This record gives sequence, C-alpha cells and structure tokens, in this order.
Amino acid sequence: MCEEPKSSRHTPDGDGAPRQPGGRRRGWFISLEGGEGSGKSTQAAVVMDWLRSRGMPCRLVREPGGTPLGERLRELLLNGTGRPVPVAEMLLFAAARAQLVETVILPSLLAGETVVCDRYVDSSLAYQGSGLGLGWEAVWSANRWATRGIMPDLTLLFDCPPELARARHRRPGDDIERRGQGFHRRVREGYRALARAHGNRVVVIDASRPALEVAAEVRRVLERWFVSTGAPVAPGPR
Ligand SMILES: Nc1ncnc2c1ncn2[C@@H]1O[C@H](COP(=O)(O)OP(=O)(O)O)[C@@H](O)[C@H]1O
Ligand SMILES: [Mg+2]
Repeated sequence: MCEEPKSSRHTPDGDGAPRQPGGRRRGWFISLEGGEGSGKSTQAAVVMDWLRSRGMPCRLVREPGGTPLGERLRELLLNGTGRPVPVAEMLLFAAARAQLVETVILPSLLAGETVVCDRYVDSSLAYQGSGLGLGWEAVWSANRWATRGIMPDLTLLFDCPPELARARHRRPGDDIERRGQGFHRRVREGYRALARAHGNRVVVIDASRPALEVAAEVRRVLERWFVSTGAPVAPGPR
C-alpha cells in the first residue's frame, strides 16, 4: 500500500506546494492513465474540449516529456540505446516528472489553469512498481520527492485488456510497449489495485468500448466530478 495521502484534494501538509487561503491549489489537476493503446491521448482531447466548452483555462501535457529535458529523456527511455535497470528507469521517469512539475505543472496550477496530464505518478507505480516489481513504496518515495507530493485531484483510468489495446496501435511499439504480455498484465493489475486503494481520486473507465462511448462516459464523469467539487463551472453548450 503506498502512503499517498487519503484525501486526494490536498497534497500532504508541509510539501511546500503553494496554496490559496482555502488550502487548494488554484487550478485543478487531472491525470489520464492506462496501458498502451487504452485511449488516453484520444480522450485527452475530449477532456480538453469539455473544459474549454465550460470556459475553463486549461493546458495539456504529456509524460514523459512536456519539457525540453523531458522530451530527451523520453527519447532515451522509449527508444533508448540499451535497457536501463529498473531502478534507473524509475529514476529517469521521476527526473522528467520533476522537471515538468517545477517548470510547467506548478506554474500553470498557480496561474489558475486546469492541467490535464497524459500519464503521471500512477504510471510509474503501475509500470515500474507493479510491472517491473520495484513495489509501490520505493516508487512513491522517489516520486513524492520529485513532485513535492503534488498529486492529481482526479485521475481517469482507462482500463482495457492489454491484448485489445495493443492491437489498436498500427505503428511498431516502443521499448516499453514491446515488453511481454506478463509485464502488461501486471501493469493493468497494478492500475486496478491503485484504483481500489485510492477510490476517492481514481475513476475507472471501461476503455474496451468504442471511442465515442468512452468519450460520452468521460464527459459524464467530468460533469459529476465538477458538481461534487462545488467549483463554479459555466454551463455547457446546447
Ligand atoms: N475506444 C477505442 N476503440 C478503438 N480504437 C481506439 C479507441 N480509443 C482509441 N483508439 C485508437 O487506438 C489507437 C491508440 O489510442 P491512443 O489514444 O493513442 O492510446 P494511448 O494514448 O492510451 O496509447 C489510436 O489509433 C486511436 O485512434
Ligand atoms: Mg498516448
């Protein structure tokens, strides 16, 4: 069990993350998670459209990457020259994430933007923690440090059998995508276990359905979630 704080709205006390007087960061932070081909990037566009249609300033970032350093690390990690050992892989992802949090995510949140992140800490917990067997504790402790403990307010987990998701990609897989079925099954199980452990933050979406159906559910989840936050959100277009 990772020691991520139980209340998902707030980062742990003393993490250094600046707050409004009410204790909340200014913008909302939403992450999209799931295996390769589960539809994260497709649905990221749906999330961004929904936020814009509600008049919310928002920014989309992807991981690993989103910064010049992060994009170079992405290249090394996904199409690298030789396989890093699991701890090196985990720390390189954490390094890319630290750069992204400090230079993009935190400034955007403080400026009041809603940040949508295509993969975040849960990817490391599932891929390096569960998939490579490093365990959540080790991965979380490196990532808590890398991110100042800043976790999403809401995570959409696109859950789908890895065989089905893999078949959707026409291009040849990158270094991580090409790992065996056993790896990808452990990743899926890791994600599902994270959703059980952090049900207040993580919403599981059945991503094996057609993209339009998944998109409709994404919009319903956002609708419900923003109502539950009490945040002022403009009515959607008719
Ligand atoms: N629900 C879906 N059903 C069938 N194909 C899909 C679905 N969602 C996305 N796709 C297609 O599958 C491929 C992978 O989707 P993508 O959004 O890039 O996944 P991810 O970002 O999770 O790897 C794309 O070609 C996309 O058009
Ligand atoms: Mg993608």
